[in-house]
Amino acid sequence: MIYRVTVNGLSHEVAAAPETPLLYVLRNDLGLNGPKFGCGLGQCGACAALIGGKLARTCSIALRHVGGDPIVTLEGLGTMQKPHPLQKAFIETQAAQCGYCSNGMIMAAKALLDRNPNPSDDEIKDALADQLCRCGTHNRIVSAVRKAAMEPVR
Ligand code: FES
Repeated sequence: MIYRVTVNGLSHEVAAAPETPLLYVLRNDLGLNGPKFGCGLGQCGACAALIGGKLARTCSIALRHVGGDPIVTLEGLGTMQKPHPLQKAFIETQAAQCGYCSNGMIMAAKALLDRNPNPSDDEIKDALADQLCRCGTHNRIVSAVRKAAMEPVR
């Protein structure tokens, strides 16, 4: 089947089976490797993106369920030349060890800051609680989100 998806402001036609996970389309068809394949079971959050402004686990969403909602991936937040304040803060805070969870952490933080521009540390921790990090960089990640929240433009 042919599906039309809007990702980071661009419209794409994708030929794929209806049950194809959105993550596969993002990575394999569109070359967007920000979203990571972690568990493939909707449990780790490495594959997160925003769909219709809401945080979503793209490994567990079949292409036929995406509909016309706009998708934003990590690549849609900023560029190398002009990184998003969250990306900048993660770099400046060195909030990664292996970095595999960073996509999900940043996208979950983006969803948080969009609905709550000035979160408390507890609110940041709550928002990121389901994003798994096995390296233990949680304190720096919370610091990075706090730092990004102080930037005027998101
Ligand atoms: Fe999607 Fe783990 S890869 S939640």
